[in-house]
Amino acid sequence: MAAENSGQFVAVLDFGAQYGQLIARRVRDLHVYSTIVPCDITADELAAMGPAAVILSGGPASVYCEDAPRVDPGVFELGIPVLGFCYGQQIMAAQLGGEVGHTQKGEYGPATLVRDGTSMLLADTPSEQTVWMSHRDAVTRVPEGFRVTAHTETCPVAAMECPRRRLFATQFHPEVRHTTYGNQMLAAFLFHICGLEPTWTMDSLVDELVADIRAQIGTSSVILALSGGVDSSVVAALVHRAVGDQLTCVFVNHGMLRAGEPELVEKVFRKQFDVPLVHVHAEERYAMLLAGVTDPEEKRRRIGTEFWKVFFEEAEKLDGVEYLAQGTIYPDVIESGARKTGGKASTIKSHHNLIPFPPGVHFDLIEPLDHLFKDEVRALGLALGLPETMVYRQPFPGPGLAIRIIGEVTPEKLAILKAADAIVREELDAYNARLFEQTGERNSEHSCWQYFAVLPDIRSVGVMGDERTYARPVIVRAVESSDAMTADWAKLPYEVLSGISSRIVAEVPGVNRVAYDITPKPPATIEWE
Ligand code: XMP
Repeated sequence: MAAENSGQFVAVLDFGAQYGQLIARRVRDLHVYSTIVPCDITADELAAMGPAAVILSGGPASVYCEDAPRVDPGVFELGIPVLGFCYGQQIMAAQLGGEVGHTQKGEYGPATLVRDGTSMLLADTPSEQTVWMSHRDAVTRVPEGFRVTAHTETCPVAAMECPRRRLFATQFHPEVRHTTYGNQMLAAFLFHICGLEPTWTMDSLVDELVADIRAQIGTSSVILALSGGVDSSVVAALVHRAVGDQLTCVFVNHGMLRAGEPELVEKVFRKQFDVPLVHVHAEERYAMLLAGVTDPEEKRRRIGTEFWKVFFEEAEKLDGVEYLAQGTIYPDVIESGARKTGGKASTIKSHHNLIPFPPGVHFDLIEPLDHLFKDEVRALGLALGLPETMVYRQPFPGPGLAIRIIGEVTPEKLAILKAADAIVREELDAYNARLFEQTGERNSEHSCWQYFAVLPDIRSVGVMGDERTYARPVIVRAVESSDAMTADWAKLPYEVLSGISSRIVAEVPGVNRVAYDITPKPPATIEWE
């Protein structure tokens, strides 16, 4: 990344913090690029990366533990400003000659911070303010040269600093929204203390990424599996901006996409962007492949394997393609335990191994989004001119509607589910839009995060216009979540549920009943298969 090359960035040393990613996010929100590196990075490696600032994250360890993670002491001698949060403050104090002890009681949640004397870090914040605490250990004596700049009722050293050495730390978490002035503290660190400029914007990012992609691909050709999902769509728009028609997108239509999706992909990529697009109509091939299959895992396996088969059949028809572009994003990289650090040889375990290259076939991967968080990817998509409907598309599983049809997938069931699902999405898109208007937040507490219809493999009795029916029920699933790891069913207003129910039974032939799934995850999962 050019931001890394220019030294205008922050390295976050990750001590296993619950809020580690959040720190990097907050810094980027202030338009300074930030990257997460392992806490055991050596001072030499860090110096080779050349960040303008270092932040030590919190972490679950106690500085007393024998195997407590430590900072290479050389890091404090590099002359680069360092800011520590929570464990980051404790380890800074412990390693520089201060003392850390157990406070009488832990401190969790909001606390009132009282400032003591002058502080460069807290300069733009009031003398009393609310901060977010989450700790048991705390600094009891600051290292020589440091001064205490704030305390709370239970924590005598809630913040400390040594301006001469440009070392700063807080026991609380400025990165958490509940710390009212957290952003001002981060801004003071980045702009006043480190002298950084807020130059990392979406437009500058587009320029950087385009330049990087051009340099990497040169005059070669590149191929991309376009699913219509956010990540692959943004990569397509970006790589096309960089190398134009050297990019070919292959859109494998397996027939289990939601109503209107193939048309949207065509409209955006063929008409709006004029990208060379191969639309592979594999609907019949998939219908045959799934005939008679009822086991969820077998459905997934067949769909996944076939996808790459179809993709590589198309890829092999194209001449001279050397690169395959992928929409890997930063959380994928972080979660796979792999990190890129400028000082080390790239240890990134990218998703090569997830792509089943056929024997004798190989492409080099390009993953231009692998430093970006999901909402940065969305912002990038908007900056590239992708429509909001695509950029804010909710998560959709690779196997598509096949895993929302319980039992065998048949054309009749697929038609029912597509129609019912379109109604659920229309109604809840409208509900979310109303909430967005009221709150200004796209993912406000009450908006649903993912919503769809499920078709179980049963029929039930009903009565419609004096006639007995024996037809299918549709299950509505709508959940609130932030990361899909846990989820709760959305407490939708009755009139919204009622509107969905009336429309489905009135508009979708073959359906006489609608049920709402009120199970959280766990114990259920979001999807039904
Ligand atoms: P579950 O059902 O495990 O889903 O609670 C969690 C999130 O993952 C999505 N999901 C998938 N996404 N391929 C995907 O790309 C899949 O096979 C798949 N299965 C589930 C699901 O929609 C939810 O957002």
